Amino acid sequence: MKHVDIVNGSTKVYGLIGHPIKHTLSPIIHNTLAKMLKYNMIYVPFDVPSGGLREALTGAYQLNIQGMNVTVPYKQEVIPFLSKIEGYANQIGAVNTLKRGKDGYIGYNTDAEGLLQSLIQNEIRISGKNIMIIGAGGAARAAAMVTASQNPKQIYIVNRTKEKAEELSKAVSSHYDVPVQYGSLHSMDKDFIVDLCIQTTSVGLLPGNDQSPITDEAFFSRVQAAVDLIYNPSETLFLKMAKKSGCKTVNGFGMLFFQAIRAFEIWNEITVPPMYIDQLFEALKNEFNL
Ligand code: ATR
Repeated sequence: MKHVDIVNGSTKVYGLIGHPIKHTLSPIIHNTLAKMLKYNMIYVPFDVPSGGLREALTGAYQLNIQGMNVTVPYKQEVIPFLSKIEGYANQIGAVNTLKRGKDGYIGYNTDAEGLLQSLIQNEIRISGKNIMIIGAGGAARAAAMVTASQNPKQIYIVNRTKEKAEELSKAVSSHYDVPVQYGSLHSMDKDFIVDLCIQTTSVGLLPGNDQSPITDEAFFSRVQAAVDLIYNPSETLFLKMAKKSGCKTVNGFGMLFFQAIRAFEIWNEITVPPMYIDQLFEALKNEFNL
């Protein structure tokens, strides 16, 4: 497939569905990657209003759209409309990538793989380590399942609503033979030494960047590495506190970036050469101060 500077009759169309999607970086990642690899494809954001998902998918299929990303609030809602789901999407119960198949779209979850790749990029190990997950929503589910798949020593899930942490811990245990504890965010076990703490809640996201789910600075003295899935701001209060305490810190840009790379690979059935990955990662990081 050859890249051309303008869209022509052979251009393959990809897109993103979600609501709202104005601030997405995905079109920049995919369109730049297509240009670098000389692929004749275009990636377009589609803001799908509430209640419009089924029609949007039917329409997309009829319009010969080759693949899509799915973002908030449709990652779970999209599943009944797919022909099948693959890999981590089954355990997570959420899909962020669709690839056109013979009888409809096939769903994947590349968020999980994106997080894993971001941890690898930052030389953060999971195997044999104590992992803490803050939150128990959709993003936490991806983080919990993917870390559970990498042989950790144990996983401790803490959430504002303890019952949801319990639910997620049961879900993890039903898929992986890994010790999983759970607790409330505000009465967590203070003896748990944390090799890796993954913050998955929306607390700290702009404009609420003066907030953190953890307010006790002493907490971070027990933590080695802290990852926040938020990348806007690039350094949340949670990460600021972690850094001050000497932790290794990683924001959510890597996860976003690598989930996109993985989606691109699934769509095109290729492996993106590391040289292009590094070049694009650095360019975006610098351009958006991430
Ligand atoms: P996502 O798919 O982005 O993970 P979600 O499924 O709505 O979003 O989950 C949001 C998570 O952020 C939950 O763990 C939620 O805690 P509750 O289960 O108690 O609702 C957490 N969260 C949201 N606002 C919070 C706040 N102000 N303090 C602590 N946790 C919060």
